[in-house]
Amino acid sequence: MNSETKLVGLFGYPVGHSISPAMQNAAFRALGINMRYAAFAVEPSRLQNAVEGIRALRFRGVNVTIPHKVAIIPFLDELDEEAREIGAVNTVVNADGKLIGYNTDGKGYVTSLVRETGISLPEQAALVLGAGGAARAVAVSLARSGIGRLVIANRTERKAQELAERVAEYTETAAIALEKIPRYMPDVTLVINTTSVGMHPQVDAMPLEERYLRPGLVVSDLVYNPLETRLLRRAREAGAQVHNGLGMFVHQGALAFRLWTGTEAPVDLMRETALRQLKGETSEEGDEKESKGEWPKG
Ligand code: ATR
Repeated sequence: MNSETKLVGLFGYPVGHSISPAMQNAAFRALGINMRYAAFAVEPSRLQNAVEGIRALRFRGVNVTIPHKVAIIPFLDELDEEAREIGAVNTVVNADGKLIGYNTDGKGYVTSLVRETGISLPEQAALVLGAGGAARAVAVSLARSGIGRLVIANRTERKAQELAERVAEYTETAAIALEKIPRYMPDVTLVINTTSVGMHPQVDAMPLEERYLRPGLVVSDLVYNPLETRLLRRAREAGAQVHNGLGMFVHQGALAFRLWTGTEAPVDLMRETALRQLKGETSEEGDEKESKGEWPKG
């Protein structure tokens, strides 16, 4: 760090578990960019002060995570169109004191999905499980990227309807209760789990009945802890093509990196660093740990 070092960071509450600092710092270091990324636990009542701090301390920007992604919007100067449509911000850029809100979650997801599975979006009829914040980002980006059809299924049907209305201008969309899934399943080509069902520690739970998993289906899970959820394991065993949540995490970070630096991110390095961090093999700074068996902090 020196007086020229530009800071970026993460605003969340809590942030102890985040693997973003290691991933972003490894990328800055590899490209010789004089920036550092740090995580900040910002209490909800202090969010406005923290945003003012971005200006006062001349941060280049921040990532924003739970619970601030929606609450931060009134404190920003401008909102990118996709962030407005998603209704949430995960990346802020400080453009000479003007704070612009972006959302790279949805684009990060779509980039990862297309690169890792090779599917053509216009040919897909996607079943989105869930209608919360993550589903909003994914559904809006898929719709804007030209997906063929979207069926949004949620435990609380009203939320599925609200999300369907958000994306209806872009693609053919249906909102359904979970009980109606069987009726739609024969036409579905892509299943996307955006719920927390199957996430650690509830690793035995599955958001979709096993009988629907078949060859020819693509099954994608936003969860990356564990990397292979029960849904993905069963889907793989049934002959379906699977896609896990790590790529979305890596690519949302890579897109934020590009917004802050104007430079393409070293995506492969970021993925390797994130993976090692998940396995507990690196420190928060992204350095190799000296002694094996040491757990990551936080
Ligand atoms: P996130 O930001 O991760 O999307 P969220 O906004 O709280 O988190 O949304 C969680 C989603 O997972 C919701 O769609 C939720 O369904 P409800 O809208 O009915 O609450 C869904 N979800 C969580 N636990 C679930 C469960 N056990 N079974 C079915 N859906 C569940």
